[in-house]
Amino acid sequence: MESVRARAPSSTANLGPGFDVFGLALDAFYDEVTLTKKNNGITILTSDLIPTSPEKNTAGLVVTHMKKKFKIQSGVEIKIKKGVPAGFGMGSSAATAAAAAVAFDRLFGLGLDDITLVASAGVGERASAGSIHYDNVSASILGGFVIVRTKPLDVIRITPPRDLRLCVAVPKISVPHKKTEVSRGAIPQNVSFIDSVMNMSNAAAIVAGFAKGDSQLIGSSIKDIIVEPARQHLIPGFSQVKKNALDAGAFGVTISGAGPSVIAFAARNSNLKKIADSMRRGFASANTNCEVLVCKPSQGAKK
Ligand code: HSE
Repeated sequence: MESVRARAPSSTANLGPGFDVFGLALDAFYDEVTLTKKNNGITILTSDLIPTSPEKNTAGLVVTHMKKKFKIQSGVEIKIKKGVPAGFGMGSSAATAAAAAVAFDRLFGLGLDDITLVASAGVGERASAGSIHYDNVSASILGGFVIVRTKPLDVIRITPPRDLRLCVAVPKISVPHKKTEVSRGAIPQNVSFIDSVMNMSNAAAIVAGFAKGDSQLIGSSIKDIIVEPARQHLIPGFSQVKKNALDAGAFGVTISGAGPSVIAFAARNSNLKKIADSMRRGFASANTNCEVLVCKPSQGAKK
């Protein structure tokens, strides 16, 4: 095979209390990466507004790393088509990194295991987020709901309930350069023991919700008293968006990843249009337009 194309989905990280630990692949948007064997070097082709030098490009970093690690001599041409909006807490760089790692594995017939794929994609994600966290890349590669542990890196995947639905409101605001770094800067250095117990109880209930296939239990456990309060000032109208969505029947609402998108958890039989409209109105109360996507969990790039 001389050329391989992989598609990787958007994702939401944290799901409230699972900071840097939980991820969920979402079928809202996809990135597409096509890798082609060439005589030498790494070249990047894209019509999107992203860097095209391999050392500054997420897919370029992943391919450079994998070529070296797996001793691949061949050159590689990387074609990137972005679908996931960058900088909105939807796992944009992770989707590019995930698609690149999966395509590389297939192109060179490496047969890598899940953890090696996640670790390889994490190299690209690290460069754009400024820190190592594997929540988005794991979800984007493996699909479904993931629990990430580090030292050593390990990922547990659970297939989400079939009726789980999400409303993601993506506000039309300009996001700061290196948004994830800025957003991580808002997180408290120390947390009280009582607060950590509260967050842990809800995180455990979310895992139980996925294990039991109970969308209501998942959604009603999306409660984070540590990171969300520290970050919400970065999102205009956040409290109103959250209140409106809960009033409209969402089971739980929180910041998607490092924000500024807001995600509401619901089920197929919820009034999804009402929830979406209520989120739009919430942002409008802060003079902010937004796009609301009603979506489902996605299978990952590896499927
Ligand atoms: N868990 C990370 C954060 C996700 O919230 O900072 C960033 O994409």
